[in-house]
Amino acid sequence: MPIITLGMDKYIEQIRSCFPFLRASGGKPVVYFDSAATSQKPEAVIDFVKDSMVEANANVHRAVYGLAEMSTLRYEAGREAARNLLGAEERYETVLTSGTTASINLLAMSLGELLLKSGDVILLSEGEHHSNIVPWQMAAARKDAVVRYFPINPDGSWNMEEAERILSEGKVRIVSAAHISNVLGIVNPVRRLAETAHRYGALVHLDGAQGIVHQKVDVKQLQCDFYSFSGHKLYALTGSGILYGRKELMDKMPPVFGGGEMVDTVTYQSTTYAESPLKFEAGTPNFIAAASLAPAIEFVNSIRNDQVHENEQKMIDYLMYELQNIEGLRIYGTAAPKAPVISFTVEGAHHSDIATLLGKMGFALRSGLLCSEPLINKFGQTGVVRISLAPYNTMEECEAFIPALHRILKMLR
Ligand code: ALA
Repeated sequence: MPIITLGMDKYIEQIRSCFPFLRASGGKPVVYFDSAATSQKPEAVIDFVKDSMVEANANVHRAVYGLAEMSTLRYEAGREAARNLLGAEERYETVLTSGTTASINLLAMSLGELLLKSGDVILLSEGEHHSNIVPWQMAAARKDAVVRYFPINPDGSWNMEEAERILSEGKVRIVSAAHISNVLGIVNPVRRLAETAHRYGALVHLDGAQGIVHQKVDVKQLQCDFYSFSGHKLYALTGSGILYGRKELMDKMPPVFGGGEMVDTVTYQSTTYAESPLKFEAGTPNFIAAASLAPAIEFVNSIRNDQVHENEQKMIDYLMYELQNIEGLRIYGTAAPKAPVISFTVEGAHHSDIATLLGKMGFALRSGLLCSEPLINKFGQTGVVRISLAPYNTMEECEAFIPALHRILKMLR
């Protein structure tokens, strides 16, 4: 779908025309500013899902009849698309999960079991989503290990000196951090973190829930050992996701869930396991959702270009400038480079009142703790309002948003 000869507005209109959600109908928000929570779905994905439910609905990796083969082919095509998107070398390295949360839980359980012992440290940044905190706290509790956090600076950027200082103490076994924070929107220096962590013998996992949406990812170039993401933020169905892991590590890591498909041989006494990725995919997977990664990633590849990037950058610059000029408004995450995720509070107006009133005016955006309570509390807040954009958003929407926010703040303050 790359129509790069069109003018900017026409090109964005062309992208918008791929999303049935945006064709106005009753009861829906006029402007969707919550793509960091979940993306809207392009017609190609919706059509593919409908077709799969009719033409390819059979359990995967189990039966030999044609329908089951078709279903398995589509499931594996979803994996292959994700493998390509990440630049992973082998199928072996790409486990299909139900999303980032499932990926990180799987990793924390399996790698924690393999690696951690009493007194070991798991190092996270202070800017993590609950999904990249709680599974590590649980793993640490099981192994008598410790979770520590390297600080973020007041502008939301990572304090890399402090990260290195903690690493240099020699106890860190695993580092896990967001490629892009779902609150701060900053593209973090993840390659530098990986290089530093490896120098001190630690393994590195990147939470790519937001990163995969806004950045071209190459796991080899990033030098990470593990990378997780969700399908539903990347235009695929909910219930799909990926855990990438380097082959030699996936080989050693024990399975977490037992059941069908993850086995080699089972006797009444014991079991030998299949190789990765099936070793980590017990039970019937959400196979149509996983398959939907293929058309979703095809869509992503078709719109990853300079025009979309330029449009996004214009919207970020405009919103940052206008928001910063509002008295009492504070933005969390001002360091560059910045993805289109902007969180803010306004003195004298509650975050949830702002989002509720904006919702009534047709703007859909998220408020509250954003599943990042420690980070929001660190800033001394009980919640924020967040704007998060996708390639289907326009400058006109941003230009309509600012006066709407001004009107609401006049009512609230
Ligand atoms: N992690 C998603 C968000 O930030 C749900 O909204």
